[in-house]
Amino acid sequence: MIEVLKTLALMNASKKVLKISSKELAEKIGQSLQTAARKLKELEEAGLIERQITKDGQHIVITERGMQLLYKEYLDYKKIFEELESLKLVGKVFSGIGEGGYYVSLEGYKKQFKEKVGFEPYPGTLNVKILKEYLFFRRRLDEEEGIVIEGFSTPDRTFGNVKAFKCKIGGIDGAIVMPKRTHYPADVVEIIAPKKLREALKLKDGDLIEVEVFL
Ligand code: CDP
Repeated sequence: MIEVLKTLALMNASKKVLKISSKELAEKIGQSLQTAARKLKELEEAGLIERQITKDGQHIVITERGMQLLYKEYLDYKKIFEELESLKLVGKVFSGIGEGGYYVSLEGYKKQFKEKVGFEPYPGTLNVKILKEYLFFRRRLDEEEGIVIEGFSTPDRTFGNVKAFKCKIGGIDGAIVMPKRTHYPADVVEIIAPKKLREALKLKDGDLIEVEVFL
């Protein structure tokens, strides 16, 4: 019912008298004529719209009550999307090939971590393989802009941009770092932190950890 009310509102029935036949409405909402007519009747009976049928056609306005219902719906959506400021990932700790320390220690990245993420990282990254059921949220990170750690060049080579997200793991503030190019598959995240997480949280390979990621 609210879908139809929304359709009417999008046709400005809250601001003016909308002249629309049930047949036109049926086409608009992709339903049968009977369904459209029934829904209008329901809206009218619920006091959400007022309707006049004259020889000229069917005239509809959304009532104050109808607008209040739509507004409540709007607030619900607002809540759904605004509270999407953080998400949870769960995965298993594993050892890599000892590359993280090299990259994290590079001056060009290190000073930006301090500036943009707020700490000087322990030289290394904790690798976490995200559980299948959390991959949906892992993919969200690909779509988010995150904090951009800019790439730089040395005489020998260039280092690409790295995307970062502040996160919390076992009460410690850290950051997920996502290099533009990585040798890890898409279900892995690498975490930096001001201290060695394996020591601080007594982690070993295969342990499950929860990471709260801030968008
Ligand atoms: O060898 P791997 O790629 O797993 O690690 P690394 O990036 O060279 O980091 C060295 C070690 O420190 C690894 O065992 C990481 O899991 C660990 N580490 C940690 O416990 N806490 C951090 N904040 C960063 C790395």
